[in-house]
Amino acid sequence: MKTDFLIIGSGIAGLTYALKVAQDCPDKIVTILTKTQSDETNTKYAQGGIAGVMDANNDSFEKHIEDTLIAGDGLCNREIVEIVVREGVDRIKEIIDWGAQFDKEPDGDFKLGKEGGHSEFRILHHKDVTGMEMERALLEAIKRKPNIRLVSHCFVLDIITQHHLGYLVTKSTPDIECYGVYVLDLSSSKIEKIIASVTMLASGGNGQVYRTTTNPSIATGDGVAMVYRAKGRIENMEFIQFHPTALYEPGVRGQSFLITEAVRGDGGILRNNLGEAFMERYDARKDLAPRDIVARAIDNEMKVTGTEHVYLDCRHFSKEKFIEHFPNIYEKCLSIGIDITQHMIPVAPAAHYSCGGIKTDEWAATSIKNLYAAGECASTGLHGANRLASNSLLEAMVFAHRAYKKTVALASSATTAGQESLHEAIPDWNASGTTSPKEMILITQSVKELKLLMSDYVGIVRNNERLYRAMKRLDLLYAETEALYQRTVVSPQLCELRNMITVAYLIVKGAEFRHESRGLHFNTDYPEKSMIVQNTIL
Ligand code: FAD
Ligand code: SIN
Repeated sequence: MKTDFLIIGSGIAGLTYALKVAQDCPDKIVTILTKTQSDETNTKYAQGGIAGVMDANNDSFEKHIEDTLIAGDGLCNREIVEIVVREGVDRIKEIIDWGAQFDKEPDGDFKLGKEGGHSEFRILHHKDVTGMEMERALLEAIKRKPNIRLVSHCFVLDIITQHHLGYLVTKSTPDIECYGVYVLDLSSSKIEKIIASVTMLASGGNGQVYRTTTNPSIATGDGVAMVYRAKGRIENMEFIQFHPTALYEPGVRGQSFLITEAVRGDGGILRNNLGEAFMERYDARKDLAPRDIVARAIDNEMKVTGTEHVYLDCRHFSKEKFIEHFPNIYEKCLSIGIDITQHMIPVAPAAHYSCGGIKTDEWAATSIKNLYAAGECASTGLHGANRLASNSLLEAMVFAHRAYKKTVALASSATTAGQESLHEAIPDWNASGTTSPKEMILITQSVKELKLLMSDYVGIVRNNERLYRAMKRLDLLYAETEALYQRTVVSPQLCELRNMITVAYLIVKGAEFRHESRGLHFNTDYPEKSMIVQNTIL
């Protein structure tokens, strides 16, 4: 199979990029691959909304820039922050033109919400299901483009580079080039190679590496692992954001239900099991301090009081107002016996967002030629050591747009003859010597072990001994899984395990390199911030 533009992922980053290149190059083929259903993405679950300076009377680019820099704790790239904040407003207007609807006041102005770390009301939202609405609008717009092929249930295994032509490729090889990908078509169980002029990785986050996460099951860090295997640059993986308020439901495994930060923006108060509003003891901004601070405060309260959760108190809200803004949360709580007007909501932190990832420049280019990355899998420099709430959807759209600007020319200059000869030269996937898996337990048990060790040793608070232990256990899981991979027919489950082990290794390695505490990375052996401010490049 050949295509002009190849996009891995059907979340906000992938779909935005696809729409733009398809619009500008109607004679080119745009192929989107996604590993499960088209809409099963982190994007779909976004609740709070998208940050943007839409009210110039009360807000300004400077304030949004400043809030982002403060949350990032000294590690943001100021130039990138300015780009995202300033260009973001046009991207928001674009998605509105494509059909996304955000809540409005009776006078027609946008209803703007507030979340932790924001000095102003600037979060556009669609009730408490903003991501679902944006994903819907994008998928509808995609259907109207005849030159886009969206193929679901296709699991991308690896990026094709010179390595697959028989050359030795190392981290110091200059001009590593991406020719396309190998993909497992889950409907036919066949592995195909796809050759592309431009490949865009929009493969999302990696929350599934942890036992408790707000991310759906697709978030296994596949893109980051693929780029690392292809010897591309990865950075700042130690900065894993834990959302302070995931619903605490004992016994529920997999994805945790999020209680959006917008609830605190509207006045929700965190209380410990003694009923104390504890946030004032940690930060002057109380419940609306940046996420790293709130999550650490909750973690501390849970440890001090010996409980597995704290509470979010919304009993003082008007029921009508709560239901108007948060209908989904209201229904979810009611379904498990919590009437928010009478009961406090039990909440605990959960892995939520990866601030680091595939290192990209201001045009979303990775260190590998013809390979671009946008959205949560990329590390652009916007978030630094801690992402400001609701900046992620904005970042994804800004860099999808910038990648589009940069890559239309690349696809136009590629020749059909060039693609034909690459297709000939690149070998088919080699499955010789592999047999069908005999026992799924070899995979499922390793996944459990991985999640447990990452949650217990590499969570909100870290230390050197925990990181050392985590790495020792990862070494063993890595050796066992590689041996299994060499002798087994590939499956999504096995590949995801392999990718999650790589991602976990990168998180631990990044954490070991950082001899300080900054933003989301807190190591009790190095509790202070270092004078030297640097990214961790792996
Ligand atoms: P995703 O939307 O996650 O899409 C990833 C895509 O890649 C999927 O289609 C997946 O199938 C595909 N994929 C991955 N691996 C492979 C593979 N091997 N082969 C083929 N396809 C693959 N951010 C905000 O700004 N505001 C919010 O209010 C907000 N709320 C959030 C609430 C929740 C519960 C969560 C989980 C996140 C929230 N975020 C929010 C973060 C934000 O939603 C994500 O960072 C963003 O949506 C990521 O978009 P993306 O396009 O990069 O990836
Ligand atoms: C939330 O709604 O609290 C999540 C917002 C985000 O992750 O940016």
